[in-house]
Amino acid sequence: MTEASKVYPPSKEFADNANATIEMYQRAEADPDEFWAEQARRLDWAKPFEQVLDWSNAPFAKWFVGGELNVAVNCVDRHVAAGKGDRVAIHWIGEPIDDTRDITYSQLKDEVSRAANYLASIGLVAGDRVAIYMPMVPEAVIAMLACARLGLTHSVVFAGFSAAALRSRVDDAEAKVVITTDGQFRRGKPAPLKEAVDEALGTGDDAAPSVEKVIVVRRTNHDANLNWVHGRDVWWEDTVAEQSPEHTPEAFDAEHPLFLLYTSGTTGKPKGIVHSSGGYLTQAAYTFHNVFDHKEGRDVFWCTADIGWVTGHTYITYAPLANGATQVIYEGTPNSPDEHRHFQIIEKYGVTTYYTAPTMIRTFMKWGREIPDAHDLSSLRLLGSVGEPINPEAWRWYYDVIGANRCPIVDTWWQTETGGHMIAPLPGAIATKPGSAMRPLPGISASIVDDKGNSVPDGEQGYLVLDRPWPGMLRGIWGDPERFKETYWSRFAEQGWYFAGDGARYDEDGALWVLGRVDDVMNVSGHRISTSEVESALVAHAAVAEAAVVGAADETTGQGIVAFVILMEHATPGDELVAELRQQVSVDISPIAKPREINIVPELPKTRSGKIMRRLLKDIAEGRELGDTSTLVDPTVFEAIRAKKN
Ligand code: WTA
Repeated sequence: MTEASKVYPPSKEFADNANATIEMYQRAEADPDEFWAEQARRLDWAKPFEQVLDWSNAPFAKWFVGGELNVAVNCVDRHVAAGKGDRVAIHWIGEPIDDTRDITYSQLKDEVSRAANYLASIGLVAGDRVAIYMPMVPEAVIAMLACARLGLTHSVVFAGFSAAALRSRVDDAEAKVVITTDGQFRRGKPAPLKEAVDEALGTGDDAAPSVEKVIVVRRTNHDANLNWVHGRDVWWEDTVAEQSPEHTPEAFDAEHPLFLLYTSGTTGKPKGIVHSSGGYLTQAAYTFHNVFDHKEGRDVFWCTADIGWVTGHTYITYAPLANGATQVIYEGTPNSPDEHRHFQIIEKYGVTTYYTAPTMIRTFMKWGREIPDAHDLSSLRLLGSVGEPINPEAWRWYYDVIGANRCPIVDTWWQTETGGHMIAPLPGAIATKPGSAMRPLPGISASIVDDKGNSVPDGEQGYLVLDRPWPGMLRGIWGDPERFKETYWSRFAEQGWYFAGDGARYDEDGALWVLGRVDDVMNVSGHRISTSEVESALVAHAAVAEAAVVGAADETTGQGIVAFVILMEHATPGDELVAELRQQVSVDISPIAKPREINIVPELPKTRSGKIMRRLLKDIAEGRELGDTSTLVDPTVFEAIRAKKN
């Protein structure tokens, strides 16, 4: 048996007690509408839906037509009403040692109600947009739920994004309010955050036109002279905290837009992915229950993502809370104050279900197994992976060292656009294989096809498509229906399939392997970054005439960003300029988008039609022999690039 075909069946004990059963696959296949209706009934509906799916105006889907619900009530109030108010919803762990807070469902209900009361008091009404730019503090989750409670559409912007990135998102969504903190802890030190909001929102003629209020949560308290715009800025503690903890919720249509989340695509401008209320929450609740085998009242769940990404939206805020789960939310970095932090948290809080990214696992591998080995991790019973393909070596290490050969691993493939898990093993119901996401979940239908939409034979790589709608699917791109159709639905327009942007293959046993993006989207430590976004940032520097960016394989981060730039005549190459260019990317986008390597080159390889051959640049970046160069205008450019690079 080859390594790749080795399967890991679940233990009998796990299988006997698993939430999911193999029979779910057949049931979903036999009657998808009924299957999804059953999943939607996990939620409390103020008004029941009349139809499961209306696909008549494809690709604009309507799920649970006629139904009405309140998402926050489903995540909070209903658990309190069911007598679970004293259960801890969130074990919040700040980065500074011993800075912790346990929040029960009752307390969460009070906090969310207070925030909702304040947002309503300043005149916000259902449909308005609110930007949330915050580190991993409880108020971030509270703010999201307060928006949901009022039918305000939130747009969470990762607090690692720059002021410029925040501004473009605030403007695109025409957000009326920005919720932020004074600062955030990073590796033991307070760093400013409100400053970035001030810079983003500008003043005078340059002021962001839509923003009326900035609500500031005190977190670091590091700056006695914090800049304050009177009339615009208010402290959370002086406003939200003063409100009544009673708030009567309203129900909203199943299709009401719950949130926007900006993500990188193949073109420079990030797009605001729109998610619904009823369908999204159904997908979240269903997958959490089955893929994480969630046992209410017993499990302690921990997803290490940041709420600025979709993983944090779905598997920190919405799915765990909709399921009445107890979860850990950790504010800081994994090596603060040292590399033991995650394992100490698992040990102390009895974490049962740990969900992280392959890049984290590879980092743990680098730090060495003696670190996790120094802790009692026996509370763990299930491990999850997300964000990028997990290499079999990291999978086996995770299984062996963290999971003590006892915990099933769920490798979950999904995207910002899909709202929740799409492809993942159902733990207990099927076996797993290192490196494979195994098969589409019950109710989800995926195929692997060639350019024309024909299925490719097992073992061969093709395009991953989702060939049937699902409740958590994106409902559009904010303000741009054409771009929505063009981006996701035009490649296989005839068949009406969703094109995910990933390549994949089935192996000889029918297990599905996701191979990564086939478009110009890079994946660095599980963060999606588009090549053209980084290129635009580089070209914005006065010294740069042209830039091409590729994602090159990287042992720890999956991919690293490698840039090739041509300078203007007048520019002086050198380390100083390279440092400036990296800074430029950091300021325009985020430090996470800084190129690992910037090569100043005399020319870029182009086809006769003028298209930059990224594939060949990737060969160079990864130190490979060059592929086919016959379509190039001038194949000798490589000699020049190679010479410069070495
Ligand atoms: C990649 C993150 C392989 C993929 C939830 C996808 C994965 C992109 C996996 C979406 C996985 C995510 N195996 N690749 N388990 N999970 N990806 O929108 O390329 O930030 O298209 O959503 O990450 O990234 P996004």
